[in-house]
Amino acid sequence: MSSKYFSSHSNNISAPAATRVRRPSRKAIACIAAIGLLLGAAIAIATNVPAISQSTDEDGQIAKSLATMLYAGRLVISRNQDRINDPNISDKGLDAKMVLAESVKIYRDVTKIDPLSIDPKTRPGKLIRLQMDSIAEVMDVHQQTLNRQGVGFKGFIPALFGRLVNEAFGRRAAGIAEMKVTAPPLFIRNVRARPDQWETEVINGKLLSPGWLKNQPFAAVTQTKGKTAYRTAVPEYYSSSCLSCHGSPKGEIDLTGFPKDGASEGDLGGVISITLYH
Ligand code: HEC
Repeated sequence: MSSKYFSSHSNNISAPAATRVRRPSRKAIACIAAIGLLLGAAIAIATNVPAISQSTDEDGQIAKSLATMLYAGRLVISRNQDRINDPNISDKGLDAKMVLAESVKIYRDVTKIDPLSIDPKTRPGKLIRLQMDSIAEVMDVHQQTLNRQGVGFKGFIPALFGRLVNEAFGRRAAGIAEMKVTAPPLFIRNVRARPDQWETEVINGKLLSPGWLKNQPFAAVTQTKGKTAYRTAVPEYYSSSCLSCHGSPKGEIDLTGFPKDGASEGDLGGVISITLYH
């Protein structure tokens, strides 16, 4: 692993809310493990390319590539959730190298492309590497948290991992690209995940509209922060495994210390939002 994986931005990363909750039930831990199954299904979504014109073909491919790598990274975390939550193991072996290697494997299975074979001098090659560096950065920064003995639930779940990777990516790709996982306003937990105006319009006008095809992403060229950008919104839906935290009764405190959102299975629960500046 090259030294660039040891980022100078690590002090900007907020620590997970590990102190809020200490002893999850076995059932709750099993629920987290079940996220893996859903994320597995979600990978299939990433293979849907939004309807795009020829001029934005490369943008469409980049968005698909970045969404797939995010799915892959989250899937690695969810597959290892039991291990992460185990208070008895110290070295979890979940370092940057391992998580990257597993993510690359999943990415390759889904796309039939080795991300490292994409020419780093091209936009797609540069951006996928910045994203992989971001995954490595998040894992490096959290080694102490992950390997702490005597603590079960550490707050390190796929949603947190995804947000931190997207934030790191936004810093590394500043001015070129941004990624975020947002949600319908009703289901927003972290204020940083709030949808902006374009995302709100796409959520309400497209993804939540009665005729919208499930799993169908929406993409458009639009003005963002004073620049022309190609933007993609990829919908994600709650499965039963998400409802231990996002379900009912609404307002009851979940395992992570957040009030439950009152969502139902199949509800639009999230949107992967990718912005590529021109
Ligand atoms: C263990 C409890 C738990 C489970 C299970 C869980 N989540 Fe979350 N989710 C959270 C927490 C906590 C956050 C806020 C993370 C952060 O940004 O700090 C979150 C954030 C999100 C967000 C980002 C938007 C926001 O509200 O801030 C989406 C989208 C999301 N979850 C979808 C899902 C989906 C889909 C599943 C099932 C595959 C799922 N979650 C399973 C706890 C959970």
